[in-house]
Parts: sequence; C-alpha cells; structure tokens
Amino acid sequence: MERFITFEGIEGCGKSTQIKLAGGYLSEHRIPFIITEEPGGTSIGRKIREMLLHNVPRDTVNMSSETELLLFAAARAQHIREVIRPSMKEGRVVLCDRFYDATIAYQGFGRGLDIDFIRRINDFSSAGLKPHFTLLFDLPVETGLRRAMERISSNKGIPAEDRFEREALEFHSRVRAGYLSLAGNEPDRFRIVDASKDIESVHREVCVHLLQFINEKL
Ligand SMILES: Nc1ncnc2c1ncn2[C@@H]1O[C@H](COP(=O)(O)OP(=O)(O)OP(=O)(O)O)[C@@H](O)[C@H]1O
Ligand SMILES: [Mg+2]
Repeated sequence: MERFITFEGIEGCGKSTQIKLAGGYLSEHRIPFIITEEPGGTSIGRKIREMLLHNVPRDTVNMSSETELLLFAAARAQHIREVIRPSMKEGRVVLCDRFYDATIAYQGFGRGLDIDFIRRINDFSSAGLKPHFTLLFDLPVETGLRRAMERISSNKGIPAEDRFEREALEFHSRVRAGYLSLAGNEPDRFRIVDASKDIESVHREVCVHLLQFINEKL
C-alpha cells in the first residue's frame, strides 16, 4: 500500500521540526520511510531551491511569480520521478516537507496567479500523484514568522531570511487563509494541527494522526 504524506503550513510553523520527530516515531514502529522536501529532494531540485529561496546571489531577488511557479514545478517533476515514486515502490512511507499544496497557497493565494492554471501545472509536474494524507500546521502568521526569525538569529550557518520570509505580513496571511481553504475543501485528506502549542504536544497530535492513517491503510 502506497503512503505519501505531506507536511504543510506557513513559514516557521514547525514542519521541519515535526517531520524529523515523525520519522523517529515511524522508526520506533519499524515502519520503513524516507524524509524528503520541496523544493529539493534531488540534486537538480537542490540547485533550483538555491535559486528560489536564497537571497544570495542577489540577482534572483527580482524573480517573477511566473518563473517562481515553473521552477517549483520543475523541481517537483524531478523529485516525483527520481525519489518519491521509487521510494513508494520499495514500500517506504514518504514524508515530504511541503508539496504542491504549497504552490497553490503561495503562488496562487499569496502571489495571485490563476489557481486553476496552477492545478494543471501541479498535475503535470507530479504526474497525477496526489498526497494520500496531509498535515497542515496552522498558527498565527506573527508567531510563525517570529519563530523563523529566531531560528535565523540563533543559527549562524543560515545567512539571512529567505525570499519568502521577507514578504509582508499580508502575504503570509493570504497564504495561511489559502491553506485553510484547501483543507476545508478536502477534509478527508487534510488534518489541521494546532501548531501554536509546544513541540512535544504538537508531536503527540501528529503521532495520533499518523497512526490512524497508517492503520487505515494496512
Ligand atoms: N511548537 C513549537 N514551539 C516553539 N518553537 C518551535 C515549535 N516548533 C518549531 N519551533 C522552532 O521554530 C523554528 C522554526 O521551526 P521549523 O524550522 O521546524 O519550521 P518550518 O515550518 O520548517 O519553517 P520553514 O517554512 O521556514 O521551513 C525552529 O527554530 C524551531 O526549533
Ligand atoms: Mg522547514
């Protein structure tokens, strides 16, 4: 049984923290899995990620929304074919830090590109593969951005905020509302997790959802 699980939500909501903890939980239950991320996940994807997220070199600051959409799609096309599908074929649960819902939330609700068109691009890039289960980590935008900024100031290895963290509060509010609307439209696939709680409480809630989903699929 194929199981493709995505972790979604605004900047600083705790996706990367929780996906690692979820991996530990699956290990304890001897369930084979991989953790991967978008954009990224492959060597080509990581090169695209540099262009999309980092402010260095500075010449990517002026990237158009259309370019941004297509670069995310290009990274995903490679990711699906090189990592996600093969891992599922090997019987691993795939845990993915962001996937195509992020494209609808950021480039659609955030940047204002046509959402129906984005859905067509998403279907093309992902070869029709849909996440089977999606955890949406929801919290106030201010809290998420504060966490992301604190992470930057405490981690000297990460040079500066990325292109998305520099966006205005209204942009992130549209992204958050976009995510909630996606979740509302597909209640069977999405679980909304209150990400404003402490790391351990959020993790416990994630474990309950994961176990329930995995057991349903056994
Ligand atoms: N529940 C929590 N309570 C307080 N701090 C948290 C919580 N979850 C994560 N953090 C901290 O907030 C920061 C951002 O968390 P994390 O990197 O997991 O978020 P993210 O959703 O992956 O962000 P991004 O979208 O920027 O990749 C980290 O420093 C992390 O340790
Ligand atoms: Mg992250």
